[in-house]
Amino acid sequence: MNVLVCGGAGYIGSHACVALAAQGHRIVIADNFCNSSQRVLLRLQRITGSPMECARVDLRNRAAVARLFSRHRFDAVMHFAALKAVGESCAKPLAYFDNNICGTINLLQGMQDAGVRRLVFSSSATVYGDPARVPIGERAPTNVTNPYGRTKLVMEQLIGDVCRSSSSFQAAVLRYFNPVGAHVSGLIGEDPAGLPNNLMPYICQVASGRRSHLNIFGDDYPTPDGTGVRDYLHVTDLARAHVDALEYLVHQGESITVNLGTGRGVSVLELVHAFEEASGRRIPYEIVARRPGDVAEVYADPTLAQRLLGWRTRLDLHAMCRDAWRWQSLNPDGYAGAWQSGPRPRRGGRALPQETVAGSPPA
Ligand SMILES: NC(=O)c1ccc[n+]([C@@H]2O[C@H](COP(=O)([O-])OP(=O)(O)OC[C@H]3O[C@@H](n4cnc5c(N)ncnc54)[C@H](O)[C@@H]3O)[C@@H](O)[C@H]2O)c1
Repeated sequence: MNVLVCGGAGYIGSHACVALAAQGHRIVIADNFCNSSQRVLLRLQRITGSPMECARVDLRNRAAVARLFSRHRFDAVMHFAALKAVGESCAKPLAYFDNNICGTINLLQGMQDAGVRRLVFSSSATVYGDPARVPIGERAPTNVTNPYGRTKLVMEQLIGDVCRSSSSFQAAVLRYFNPVGAHVSGLIGEDPAGLPNNLMPYICQVASGRRSHLNIFGDDYPTPDGTGVRDYLHVTDLARAHVDALEYLVHQGESITVNLGTGRGVSVLELVHAFEEASGRRIPYEIVARRPGDVAEVYADPTLAQRLLGWRTRLDLHAMCRDAWRWQSLNPDGYAGAWQSGPRPRRGGRALPQETVAGSPPA
């Protein structure tokens, strides 16, 4: 299939490109590089063995989105493009509504006008908020607690309405739990700008000496060791689920909403110790006060994804830590680092002109 991957230069989108290419799909990435580097394109070429076609497009630009659909015939769209920092969304809710919701409306309009009928959408376990019970099934009530989560829930609802308006339009809404790790090659991985929002990249930066220690927010939660429990899954497993979801849409022709997680809760301290074992590095930490808004335990009931998609995670906590550490140690400064020779397009750099469709990535 010809697949448009919006946000394909980002952390999860780039891994999905690898999974799509491995199944023989043709990919066009659309990204505005607001939270990614063009260097990922060259890395993807090295992994997949073929140039990655990419258009520099901001989904908020409806005309640019329309032009993208007029230049290509797509069979499906994967939509990763969003702003995703919870704290920032509380400070700048309108920017989140504009980017995430307006961008999605433009994308849906472009798909409808071009007759593209299949969408795989990145949602998040954040739509469940503070769950009344774990594991969390898809029927659990949604209860968003911040503007980022609200954008995810609104986008889910908009997509649902479009599906209901036309029986030929189908969407797979994938609610991710906590993606971590990196491609086994160490060529692509999570490259947060500034202070990492997520635990694993923070641990990686402590291990590499970039940060002195890890702050653990609270050890008095009602969990086995008192620290918060989350459902970490390897980004390679997550990427594979997108290809499985696309195949489901093609073969079953019906829309779905599924959780993607391992079904096993892992505490902060358990993750720290697994990382120390996988990396051979010590992770100094301090216990500090709970962070407002954090909840004790969040983990998935992933049985629906198993039943519908035949998907289950294959990579364990050790592999998540090992691969995250490999990425970090090969790329201590992320894509901006000096590990690879050649010019260094910056995050948001201008090497690829607006809407340029590149047959091969910039060097
Ligand atoms: N990483 C997580 O922990 C996590 C968890 C649950 C859900 N998600 C969702 O998964 C998706 C991908 O997350 P990620 O971690 O890969 O994030 P990311 O920031 O690494 O990737 C998102 C990509 O989208 C691009 N983008 C953002 N706004 C855009 C716009 N208006 N036009 C064009 N491109 C735009 C960014 O430049 C970036 O390359 C997001 O929708 C996110 O909300 C992520």
